[in-house]
Amino acid sequence: MLINRRQAGAALAGLALAACEKKAEPTAETKSDTGAKAGIMKHEWGKTPDGQTVEMYMLSNGKGMSADIITWGGIVTALKVPDKSGTPVDVVLGFESFDPYVKNPAYFGALIGRYGNRIGHAQFKLDGKTYTVPKNDGDNSLHGGKAGFNSKLWTAKEVPGGLELTYVSKDGEEGYPGTLTAKVTYSLTDDNGLKIDYFATTDKDTVVNLTNHTYFNLAGQGEGLILDHEMQIMADNFTPVDKGLIPTGKLQPVEGTPFDFRQPHAIGERIGADNEQLKLGKGYDHNFALNSKGGTLATAAKVKDPKTGRTLEVLTDQPGIQFYTGNFLDGSLTGKGGKKYPQRCAFCLETQHFPDAPNKPEFASTLLKPGQEYKTTTIYKFSQA
Ligand code: BGC
Repeated sequence: MLINRRQAGAALAGLALAACEKKAEPTAETKSDTGAKAGIMKHEWGKTPDGQTVEMYMLSNGKGMSADIITWGGIVTALKVPDKSGTPVDVVLGFESFDPYVKNPAYFGALIGRYGNRIGHAQFKLDGKTYTVPKNDGDNSLHGGKAGFNSKLWTAKEVPGGLELTYVSKDGEEGYPGTLTAKVTYSLTDDNGLKIDYFATTDKDTVVNLTNHTYFNLAGQGEGLILDHEMQIMADNFTPVDKGLIPTGKLQPVEGTPFDFRQPHAIGERIGADNEQLKLGKGYDHNFALNSKGGTLATAAKVKDPKTGRTLEVLTDQPGIQFYTGNFLDGSLTGKGGKKYPQRCAFCLETQHFPDAPNKPEFASTLLKPGQEYKTTTIYKFSQA
């Protein structure tokens, strides 16, 4: 059944209906109090290199927010939030078609696993055994290795209010022990939040650290740099890194450094400061140790674009957040609407356990054992001043 444009109403206006009108099937709908429709539509979006179908699910909350999510890598390809006049603005970097997502060198919008961020020297010990994982970042392993969860086809299932994606990572995949069953549920909240619930179980002791690698620009994707965005991170400490961006294992107070975001600061205010850590990261590319320490959902960061008045609040129950200022973007990728993506045209706030925790007993453990459940939640919530 096709939804016609008038029926779909304002909330669906931003869902690229024109492009998919013929194929999109509305699969679950409820009428919201604004009269606009909340629901999910899906359509085929591409084929994997081995010929499997990639589907796109378009979630709408009926309040003007929508998210386009594909089954390849669980990638958020578009996230539209209403501006002052209610017009949806896409605030995440991404590509217009499927093919560039096969490589996706910057991990735009992707689910990251089995281990988010880096594992030093691409190895770790577990239960007395040394496991070797792929080196895909100098001497280290980044974001799950050469073929992480970002480049896998996930199985989609609509669940009340959201989309559940499942990926079963076999014992030994990318060197990690144990068959890990990962489930990630995306949903939109009534107050314009993208909620991500992560869940995993294993059949052998393993390590796990799942996150999402969306790049945000609150002025709209492709709308210049994010240096004037005002960033606040609820962290008294961050984890300094070595030249391979592996944490030293120490916690460093942010006090008196360019890493002090306890009060809002423009991202660009101190990014060029003469600071060894900023030089190592080519900007901000660091894990902040959240004051909330994880365990319960708490505000981790708040970001405001002064030009548009749009704000993002990140809530998580994770102990850390990777603040990354798109330092490795160099303008060579062309994204949606033909926009070039130069360095610092977006930022990431990746909620996580600390990088290299499997080799750092001083950090909170990322060990998952059979019978245990890995369960965490992060919300990216938008508002408009
Ligand atoms: C890392 C960066 C890396 C980027 C990949 C971030 O999570 O911390 O160092 O370049 O992901 O796009």
